[in-house]
Amino acid sequence: MTLLVLSALVVAFCLGIAGVEAGRLISYPPHIRTKRGSYIVEFESHIPKTHVSRFHAMSDVSVDRHFTKVLNGISVSVSKRDFDPSHFAQMDGVKRVWPVRYYYPASTPSAASNSSSLYLHHATGVEKALKELGVDGKGIKIGIVDSGVDYNHPELGGCWKTEGCPWQYGEDFIGDKYNEADAIPIIEPNPTPMDCAGHGTHVSGILAGRGPQVRGVAPGATFGMYRVFSCPINGEGGSSDDILLQGIEAAFEDGHDIINLSLGGGAWSEEPVAVACAQIVQQGVVVVAALGNDGAGGLQTGSAPAIARGVISVGSVDNWNVTSKPGIITSAQGTQKIALSMPGDSKYPFDFDSDTPLEIPAGGEDSIVGCANYTENMSGKIVVVKRGGCTFNEKALYAYTAGAIGVICYNNVAGDMSPAVSNSVPIPFVGISDDDGKHVTDTLAAGKATVKAPKGAREISPSKTGGQISLFSSIGPSAELDMVPLISAPGGNIWSTYPQKLGSYASLSGTSMATPYISGTVALLKQARPDLDVRAITRLLVSNGKPITDPATGLKTTPFMSGAGLVNIYDAIKSRVQFDPPVLSLNDSKISHIQGYSKLESLGSVRWAARTISIHNTDSKKSLHLSLSNAAANSLSMILANGSFSYSPRTWPADTSSVSEDTLPKVYSPNAEKTIGPGKTCSVTVFIVAPKGLKDLESWYYGGFINFTLQWDGEKTTSTQVVSYGGYNGDSTIQDVLSPPSDGLPALVDTVTGEPVNDLSTLVIDNNATKAILFGLSIPSRLVEIMLVDAATDKSAGYMVQGYNEYLARTCPECSVPYVGVPLTKTVFTDSKLTNVTQVPAGKYHVRIRALRPFGDTSVDSDYQVWNSGDFTIA
Ligand SMILES: *[C@@H]1O[C@H](CO)[C@@H](O)[C@H](O)[C@H]1NC(C)=O
Ligand SMILES: *[C@@H]1O[C@H](CO)[C@@H](O)[C@H](O)[C@H]1NC(C)=O
Ligand SMILES: *[C@@H]1O[C@H](CO)[C@@H](O)[C@H](O)[C@H]1NC(C)=O
Ligand SMILES: *[C@@H]1O[C@H](CO)[C@@H](O)[C@H](O)[C@H]1NC(C)=O
Ligand SMILES: *[C@@H]1O[C@H](CO)[C@@H](O)[C@H](O)[C@H]1NC(C)=O
Ligand SMILES: *[C@@H]1O[C@H](CO)[C@@H](O)[C@H](O)[C@H]1NC(C)=O
Ligand SMILES: *[C@@H]1O[C@H](CO)[C@@H](O)[C@H](O)[C@H]1NC(C)=O
Ligand SMILES: *[C@@H]1O[C@H](CO)[C@@H](O)[C@H](O)[C@H]1NC(C)=O
Ligand SMILES: *[C@@H]1O[C@H](CO)[C@@H](O)[C@H](O)[C@H]1NC(C)=O
Ligand SMILES: *[C@@H]1O[C@H](CO)[C@@H](O)[C@H](O)[C@H]1NC(C)=O
Repeated sequence: MTLLVLSALVVAFCLGIAGVEAGRLISYPPHIRTKRGSYIVEFESHIPKTHVSRFHAMSDVSVDRHFTKVLNGISVSVSKRDFDPSHFAQMDGVKRVWPVRYYYPASTPSAASNSSSLYLHHATGVEKALKELGVDGKGIKIGIVDSGVDYNHPELGGCWKTEGCPWQYGEDFIGDKYNEADAIPIIEPNPTPMDCAGHGTHVSGILAGRGPQVRGVAPGATFGMYRVFSCPINGEGGSSDDILLQGIEAAFEDGHDIINLSLGGGAWSEEPVAVACAQIVQQGVVVVAALGNDGAGGLQTGSAPAIARGVISVGSVDNWNVTSKPGIITSAQGTQKIALSMPGDSKYPFDFDSDTPLEIPAGGEDSIVGCANYTENMSGKIVVVKRGGCTFNEKALYAYTAGAIGVICYNNVAGDMSPAVSNSVPIPFVGISDDDGKHVTDTLAAGKATVKAPKGAREISPSKTGGQISLFSSIGPSAELDMVPLISAPGGNIWSTYPQKLGSYASLSGTSMATPYISGTVALLKQARPDLDVRAITRLLVSNGKPITDPATGLKTTPFMSGAGLVNIYDAIKSRVQFDPPVLSLNDSKISHIQGYSKLESLGSVRWAARTISIHNTDSKKSLHLSLSNAAANSLSMILANGSFSYSPRTWPADTSSVSEDTLPKVYSPNAEKTIGPGKTCSVTVFIVAPKGLKDLESWYYGGFINFTLQWDGEKTTSTQVVSYGGYNGDSTIQDVLSPPSDGLPALVDTVTGEPVNDLSTLVIDNNATKAILFGLSIPSRLVEIMLVDAATDKSAGYMVQGYNEYLARTCPECSVPYVGVPLTKTVFTDSKLTNVTQVPAGKYHVRIRALRPFGDTSVDSDYQVWNSGDFTIA
């Protein structure tokens, strides 16, 4: 059980956070780092501005900021240590009180490439829109909330707010010294948002780059940079809700047409940043946000604010060409070249000018993946490990501890791999494909081998995964079963600008790179068709997506991974029809007969959904003839055929040979062919039937695309547009929420060794927090309670410290949150507000976890999944 080794760290910082109450004062799970004594107080929408005076009048409370535009609320800090924030919740007109949480930019797995950005623009219609329609974003204002920008970069204009400069708006809300580890983090606002992290400059190039190396999607637009992320400390530059909201509000006030966000938050649309974004959309501004980079965790790994309704959530596809670094393997059998990924932002480049010995760790499966202490001294060697078992950072740390000077990690699934490691472990870490991995391990099995990878060497080659959804791209649906992402753009292996101090150019990967790409295409659409409102923009962008074909099955890649597919902005601009809604979120499904449509009554009992799509022919002169067909996509599940759970989702059908009628969702419509007069709107009803062969026990998510073939009067050519659909096959409210037992969680562990405590009968707990409970979530949960239960009566003695957690996102070993840990002591809170603290009397107890299932009611016992530990003694 190596996964638990880092648990001590997790638990250590949990201890600092005071538990807060139920109901309106939100209690975050312990791994969410919050700012001591700082809260966001969200008011009911009708509450007037003057209401704030009551907070000003309170002693020990200072009102830091007053938000009116994007959220009706304030951020406050309290100076008194034992101030009870539930007072805020009890005040008139207060909707929710949120501890201020820290944020990080969406992490970016990286690899290097220096492919021409022209090919990207060719595949997405951007090149054609520029050449044929002359659009480059001119006249459109784009606000970017990020880590700042190196505006002196020659490809980004080399200017700040001077006449004719692309940068006309923005400021720095945070400064360079911010460190959330400080008791009071230092905030030093500045008029100019210079970037020291790199992230903001990289995404700026994707939007604004003016060549020769980087050509942005909308270089003619006017930009604002609102800096909310500070310089990286241990690999990450932090921020917090209150600073983010300030940046978002400023971007909104400056009147941008499009706001682009780089926030990787939780998973729930109730969170303040998600509320703010939904509010901005309501007011007519397009908000584009990255879905997240937790695809390794499988389904439902999308993050806020992308999951907020109305926000354009973006998934990533891999670039078509990748630049890798050649590595020369030399052994008794001769030499062979392998392709090494190159993290563009690594402080520790994989540069080895001379032949350096390679070694595979000795031992069992845990050793092969490099997820355990090494038994040999790896001093001076580069270790070769397999992907999986633990995070890349953990692999790097184990190798470094054993003396290794570098790590090569080979993929455990087909294709290239670009691992993401923070710079906290000071040795280079690169990824190679499964094929290259097999070559290296075979060579090492036969004898000694070395690798050489001189500084500066590069090779550009077409990627095997070009145009496919990036492995890291988070997967939908949202916790509420809304379809996310809505659309995809290139985000894997993207060459763009970087701060000049950090090398001027870098290749990064992430949905963070796909997001500005979409913001740029929205700018082109707004320039070409200034009359469109947010909803119309979203409709055109989405229904003109190009579904991606899964090479394994020949079916489409599910919209839960790709949205409507790869963006095509030329088609969106030229589009003369609008579909509303452009996406059908089918929710979960009860089994029944389809009644009232005689042709389908013969299907018998099936899982189905009926939806109506309104179709507007915006051509004022010509009638539109349309017909619809179904382009089925693969179904996804995290339950394997043998019933075990897998983070890497299973697709069904698995390959071309298993495609049959039973494996596909079906679309029926009483009006499959239709003519719509010039400027007219009409409705089409569709019945979507889940694939018949899906087993209810396996928790499948199915989907596909309704393919509309369009022809206008007197025109020979036809075109197509799509409406994507997707749903859950069955009753989602009975799904298990906690990670499956095969994951080794929940578990009671030793906080020092990280090892599970197997023999509970001899375990004695006092107040030293030497033990903790770890648990994981295989789907998001609105509420997880952890309590001590008296073994004799089976009655709860109270909530454990941090035993009340609301709005939890998914966890997975390779995700941003691997698991949640709470300390086990004899301290409990006897009330659900976690204010009445007490020590339980000596005796026998066990721990109980209650996790609310999807759409559950917090007051209904049967809506929770319950787990009990074995009994132990409390001293
Ligand atoms: C990337 O490509 C451009 C033009 O194709 C070239 O000028 C530049 O030197 C290349 N940069 C690197 C780091 O290979
Ligand atoms: C692994 O090594 C570390 C540091 O050398 C040590 O603290 C830890 O106990 C070891 N873990 C195991 C399971 O041997
Ligand atoms: C590992 O080997 C190197 C040199 O071969 C030596 O300097 C180092 O002390 C060794 N480390 C351990 C922990 O034995
Ligand atoms: C990039 O990819 C395209 C499409 O696969 C290919 O035609 C082109 O040659 C590639 N460019 C390079 C430099 O490999
Ligand atoms: C699905 O249904 C639940 C109630 O059963 C509702 O709360 C949720 O918002 C619905 N989701 C969508 C996407 O319609
Ligand atoms: C845009 O948003 C993405 C993710 O939401 C973020 O990573 C990026 O930094 C933002 N900035 C720009 C310029 O697009
Ligand atoms: C939609 O149908 C057209 C033919 O009518 C076909 O060429 C196209 O590939 C289809 N699109 C999808 C996504 O299946
Ligand atoms: C179920 O199948 C998977 C993959 O096929 C395998 O890795 C796993 O060990 C199996 N589990 C059981 C309990 O047989
Ligand atoms: C807990 O801490 C106290 C004081 O620091 C110490 O005396 C006691 O032995 C500790 N208990 C355990 C089980 O480590
Ligand atoms: C606090 O909990 C104790 C039991 O430990 C109970 O007797 C007491 O009434 C509670 N007080 C409040 C205010 O809930």
